[in-house]
Amino acid sequence: MKVTFYGHACFGIEVAGKHLLFDPFISPNELAANVKIEEIPADYILISHAHFDHVADVEAIAKRTEATLISNYEIITYFGKKGLKGHPMNHGGSWKFDFGTVQYVNAVHTSSFEDGSYGGNPGGFVVSAEEGSFYFSGDTALTYDMKLISEDYSLKFAILCMGDNFTMGVKDAIKAANFVACDQIIGMHFDTFGYIKIDHEAAVKQFGTAGKNLNLLEIGQAIEI
Ligand code: NI
Ligand code: MN
Repeated sequence: MKVTFYGHACFGIEVAGKHLLFDPFISPNELAANVKIEEIPADYILISHAHFDHVADVEAIAKRTEATLISNYEIITYFGKKGLKGHPMNHGGSWKFDFGTVQYVNAVHTSSFEDGSYGGNPGGFVVSAEEGSFYFSGDTALTYDMKLISEDYSLKFAILCMGDNFTMGVKDAIKAANFVACDQIIGMHFDTFGYIKIDHEAAVKQFGTAGKNLNLLEIGQAIEI
């Protein structure tokens, strides 16, 4: 699977020839000024929750690509009123798409739109395909619920938030990696704002000490996993 980092919590992941785009927040992100949103491919846009730093570019990208949105019922309904097509889910539920199966899993966070509209409850995603399974945590605290993921999936990699303040920090992200039983970790939700700046070298070292490989990608960087 090819994983491209577009900054903050936004990733493009190719699964079974389809382009999955997670939590697009690019045009307001000064650190992602070199990313051209008009060139980002998307067959599906997966949205973890309604906060601005996860949905800012949903409308622009979905209108251009005609991507199908995948999120909770409230977020799909909100964007449905703007004419975007979507697939509504809720916590614990799975659905088989043409690229693989998606389960919408628990996250401990909040989820309101910038205009105050209700964004349902926040979640994360486990994507399970022929090439392997991966977990995208969304914004979340560390939670014991993550252990359930390791009971049902053998993850190839996990994308975990770790900027602290608004989500779990590095120390808890290492625990999360243990809970989901995964050694290949990609970090997200760090450095974008002053509150979530992290020491990259120290974070990689802490994960290493725990026997885990932490990848903090450069914005625009793509890797094959
Ligand atoms: Ni958030
Ligand atoms: Mn966030």
